[in-house]
Amino acid sequence: MPPSLSAKFGIDDRLVFKAHASGLMHGVIHTPLCQGSFFLLGGHVASFQPVGEEPLLFLSKHSNFQLGTPIRGGIPICFPWFGPHPSEPTAAAHGWARTALWEMLSTTAEDDGTITVKLGLENDEWQLQSTLRFGRTLELSIAVVNAASMPRECELALHTYFDLADVHTARVVGLEAQPHLDKLSGKTLPPSGQAIRFTQETDRIYSGSVQEIYVVDGQRDRTVVIRPSNSRSTVVWNPWIEKSQRMPDFGDDEYRHMCCVETANVADQRLSIPAGGRSRTGLTLSLTSP
Ligand code: BG6
Repeated sequence: MPPSLSAKFGIDDRLVFKAHASGLMHGVIHTPLCQGSFFLLGGHVASFQPVGEEPLLFLSKHSNFQLGTPIRGGIPICFPWFGPHPSEPTAAAHGWARTALWEMLSTTAEDDGTITVKLGLENDEWQLQSTLRFGRTLELSIAVVNAASMPRECELALHTYFDLADVHTARVVGLEAQPHLDKLSGKTLPPSGQAIRFTQETDRIYSGSVQEIYVVDGQRDRTVVIRPSNSRSTVVWNPWIEKSQRMPDFGDDEYRHMCCVETANVADQRLSIPAGGRSRTGLTLSLTSP
């Protein structure tokens, strides 16, 4: 463990930097408000739970925790492309941000007990800054600067894995009025007018901005509220049975205990940023009773 990291960015016993069992460095938060953790690999929030509550984020027991591969669960940051690279078939899916080592920029303890963490990453003339706020709620905000001398497009997804007691009793509410692209059939479908339930492999990109999305865990009788900011698309994903079996870093039965609802700007809603311009996309997660 580089002693300087803890010395420079630790906050008494509320934010401690230590090596994870894998050897990767992570920041571990224990406060009267919440517990959480984040990795420098991918600038990745791996866990979050308000005190007295069960974890909000799913983290696979089979995840790789190694440099160059993404962590399966938590909130991977997909950037600057989403899914396969548009023209280079050998390039890593979902871009380079989730497998890069981010740099610690600052940590702050606020008066209300919230811990704020800032991380940065620069590559290919993109400058990213992530702000994480661990309180009773979790806030994640990514600022993207196009440092190139020409306007450029990029995709961004905060690929949030929600922990569910049982996906069969879960529903996602808030996207009923949005059309979506079904990535499995390639078809664009009109608004369904209904909450999303999971009964098979699901891989969809909903278009349009919404103020709130609710991930309702029927078995736990709890609802997580997502408040996206500057998000013009939302990806909803569950691999279901066969795809789970094909994924080496995911348990065969783990699809039962998660769904992804991703705060995004992807596909037709990708970002277009002028030379030197900046764009910010974020989310807040909180818990409410249904
Ligand atoms: C989702 C995509 O966001 O991520 C799916 O819509 C993809 O198509 C899933 O399978 C997981 O991707 P990965 O690269 O983390 O296995």
